[in-house]
Amino acid sequence: MLSTVYSAGLFGIDGFPVTVEVDARPNLPSFELVGLPDMAVKEAKERVRTACENSGLRFPETSLMINLAPADRRKEGSGFDLAILTGILHAVGVIRHTVPLEDSCFIGELSLSGRLRGVRGVLCMRAAAREAGFQNVYVPTENAAEAAAVRGIRVYAVESMTALLDHLNGRKPLTPLSTGETVSDDELYVGLDFADVRGQAMAKRALEIAAAGGHNVLLIGPPGTGKSMLAKRLPSILPPLTFEEALTTTKIHSVAGLLPDGHALVTRRPFRSPHHTMSAVSLVGGGANPAPGEISLAHNGVLFLDELPEFPKQVTDALRQPLEDFKVTITRASGRVTFPSAFMLVAAMNPCRCGYFGHPTRKCTCRSGDVARYLANVSGPMLDRMDIQIELPSLSFDEISAADPHAESSATIRARVTAARAFARARMAAENDQPRCNAQLSPAEVHRYCRATDGAIALLKQAYDALGLSARGHDRILRVARTVADLDASEHIREEHIAQAIQMRSLDRKYWH
Ligand SMILES: Nc1ncnc2c1ncn2[C@@H]1O[C@H](COP(=O)(O)OP(=O)(O)OP(=O)(O)O)[C@@H](O)[C@H]1O
Ligand SMILES: [Mg+2]
Repeated sequence: MLSTVYSAGLFGIDGFPVTVEVDARPNLPSFELVGLPDMAVKEAKERVRTACENSGLRFPETSLMINLAPADRRKEGSGFDLAILTGILHAVGVIRHTVPLEDSCFIGELSLSGRLRGVRGVLCMRAAAREAGFQNVYVPTENAAEAAAVRGIRVYAVESMTALLDHLNGRKPLTPLSTGETVSDDELYVGLDFADVRGQAMAKRALEIAAAGGHNVLLIGPPGTGKSMLAKRLPSILPPLTFEEALTTTKIHSVAGLLPDGHALVTRRPFRSPHHTMSAVSLVGGGANPAPGEISLAHNGVLFLDELPEFPKQVTDALRQPLEDFKVTITRASGRVTFPSAFMLVAAMNPCRCGYFGHPTRKCTCRSGDVARYLANVSGPMLDRMDIQIELPSLSFDEISAADPHAESSATIRARVTAARAFARARMAAENDQPRCNAQLSPAEVHRYCRATDGAIALLKQAYDALGLSARGHDRILRVARTVADLDASEHIREEHIAQAIQMRSLDRKYWH
């Protein structure tokens, strides 16, 4: 008899429906699997047979032909086990389906004991199942929370093959999970707070501007001045993720198999801080079954590169394209996969190896030439992509010892950031543009949106000539000035906005000449 059941595959962060056809004939026992499967899918044969027998059923002694369709798309991973075994048992009449199968999608790996194991990317596959019009989706208990994150389809958490059979045969029906999840803002922002950081008013202001416009930031200064401390607190002044943003970020984490247990949606902005020993592939993504890298895991959040000059050049160079395109494309024999990667880059570094070059009181112990060599580890193009560059000076004793009762909390700063972003969004919406951060404005849009007063233009011209700016540098100053004006709720960019933007970009001249 021929049986048809459904499952879903994964490509990048998108799922696609897969039809599993099983043809069982009373010939000599055989087991064929066709339809462009990879190794893990081929091994399904062994898992399915053993899982069946360990679930107290005899594996059918018939000739079995299984086809995974569409045949031209590569099927990866072990998530088809459940659909394959369900199809086989249906084809030989073990499942009499009091529950219909044609409106259901089965996802999950079988262990040899017949229990279900979690797989990567369930949220994405579940979304594809819903789009394809399925009413029910069966997933491993381990993936239940992520599958239930969004409404629109009945989700059943399946513990084992036996439990699924009892459900399908009407002996012991499963209850669908309640779907949809709401998160209160309070739980989103617990822990690190800007109020913990003493002094460093300039750096705090720089991070506020960066957060409002989505700009990349370079923090530079001697050891122990609060660079790492401030960077880690950046997510606390960013507005909460919108539902759409949360969904995309969750899909990426789902594909990477990184969703924490019991959490349906990634609701906090990601903060990723890869170590400088990390490979370019783990940073930008790749591998035989392309997996997202750190830059995609940081999508809609922050990528923090601490001790920037310690990162090998080929690793930081791999960041250049995604920093311009906000996505990364990985090419493999099986096709091209694109992962989103719109993140804010925050980098921190000392001005030299000993850390004290340019320090007002401590002597730098680096040999002449070493400082320049150290700084040269940060390439020009990388430096150019840092809209905001700020120096953190050593704190005086008074600054570090006296608690500041007026120190602003992250919540206060976040309110200003959120207001500035709303101000910018309204401007773009008025022109029917897709709302984006100022950092993502194209050169044409910079012209259109960055209207400045005559005084502001005169000041920019003066800086352009005096500082020998490039065209790109000119646009970057305008983008940052646009954000400073947004924080001021000012439609026009004024002199003081340009002045602050120039001030936030003076380090390359001090250190890199
Ligand atoms: N501005 C500050 N306010 C309060 N505490 C601070 C400040 N700066 C540094 N500290 C204290 O010093 C510790 C080290 O700070 P942090 O790790 O941010 O330094 P850093 O600038 O990243 O130094 P390095 O260059 O060595 O990485 C912090 O954990 C904190 O206890
Ligand atoms: Mg540090």
